[in-house]
Amino acid sequence: MTIETRETLALQGGAPVRASFLPFHQPLVDADDERAVLETLRSGWLTTGPRTKGFEKDLAAYTGSAHCVAVNSCTAALHLALEAVGVGAGDEVMTSPITFASTANVIVHCGARPVFVDVEPDTLNIDVGAIDAAVTPRTRALIPVDFAGQPCDLDAVMAIGARHGLPVIEDAAHSIGAEYKGRRIGGIADMTCFSFYATKNITSGEGGALTTNRQEWADRIAVMALHGISHDAWKRYGAEGYRHWDIIAAGYKYNMFDLQAALVRSQFDKLERFHARRVALKTRLDAGLQDVPEITLPAERAWARHAYHLYPIVVRTEMLTADRDTIMNAIQAENIGIGVHFRAVHLHPFYADTFGFRRGMFPHAEYYSDRTISLPLYPRMTDADADAVVAAVRKVFSHYRR
Ligand SMILES: Cc1ncc(COP(=O)(O)O)c(C=O)c1O
Repeated sequence: MTIETRETLALQGGAPVRASFLPFHQPLVDADDERAVLETLRSGWLTTGPRTKGFEKDLAAYTGSAHCVAVNSCTAALHLALEAVGVGAGDEVMTSPITFASTANVIVHCGARPVFVDVEPDTLNIDVGAIDAAVTPRTRALIPVDFAGQPCDLDAVMAIGARHGLPVIEDAAHSIGAEYKGRRIGGIADMTCFSFYATKNITSGEGGALTTNRQEWADRIAVMALHGISHDAWKRYGAEGYRHWDIIAAGYKYNMFDLQAALVRSQFDKLERFHARRVALKTRLDAGLQDVPEITLPAERAWARHAYHLYPIVVRTEMLTADRDTIMNAIQAENIGIGVHFRAVHLHPFYADTFGFRRGMFPHAEYYSDRTISLPLYPRMTDADADAVVAAVRKVFSHYRR
């Protein structure tokens, strides 16, 4: 183990490791992306149209699924998926407490109750061995989350879903480009929901998509994503002549539009390149941090091709004189942006107050929730940026070491 000298932390008035701030995330948008958006701006068609349809076709082909509906967020995709399988008042939907707000919020939007299942302590993905015991006659769907970009154990979750007649809706917000046992995410679960939010591995600023092999769900989702009306606008105003539309359900305004589609389609071409850069940076961070005894890194399963969306570390506060938040603030003061993914959802006030969740119910999630920090990991980072992250983390841990 390298023993660093205890330099004065920037938090305490010392010189920061970096002279300028390294943001937690910065999207990589190049001239091709700009050209694609500009061409769309000049095309005369801005809303949902040929570019969105083209992206849907390409994403379906890439994931090996029969259908894709592009929407304006992963949150919208998750909501539409639950609507399509008929989740409503009095139902229960199972998910992981280590996720973003929206995975649980959409369950509530449907009038249903979120049922959390603890995570595996090493991968932070849902503990598939604990799902069965949480199934009740009211359970209507399972939403496993591919945490940080590592697919959950899909064969196991799908088998549980099949045994209980429950659709599996995969929250793949982090995992575009990931593979499970050599198969791409998006063609395995009953429905898969992707995010193209600004921080995601490919982005349209805001955006999302859902893939499925089931025609009836794809049809329902396409209708519900656009007001519940029976024809897409671009068909209504197309060259084929005016067609009346009917409102067949009280739908939502969740459609992706062509400016978004142009950007994400252009980014999609670079997915493999971005992935390779993420792997290189991740390897560099691993090498720089592997001998810091107070840090644990999430485990990777041999069957996973990880999308490396995030670089979360677990801070073993038992071995330090400071808690997670102090460590986090100290790293930030060294001019390194950080994030937290995630504080366990069941402990947030709304979920605790509304559903009676308490600390102690999901110990693995809670241990992680109190200790995690996400370090920067994105293709726009240079090797020197990654080295600065390592230097800042080592400096801070060395300072607070017991
Ligand atoms: C696990 C997870 N699910 C869902 C979402 C929602 O994605 P979006 O912002 O596209 O709605 C996020 C967003 O960060 C996420 O991290």
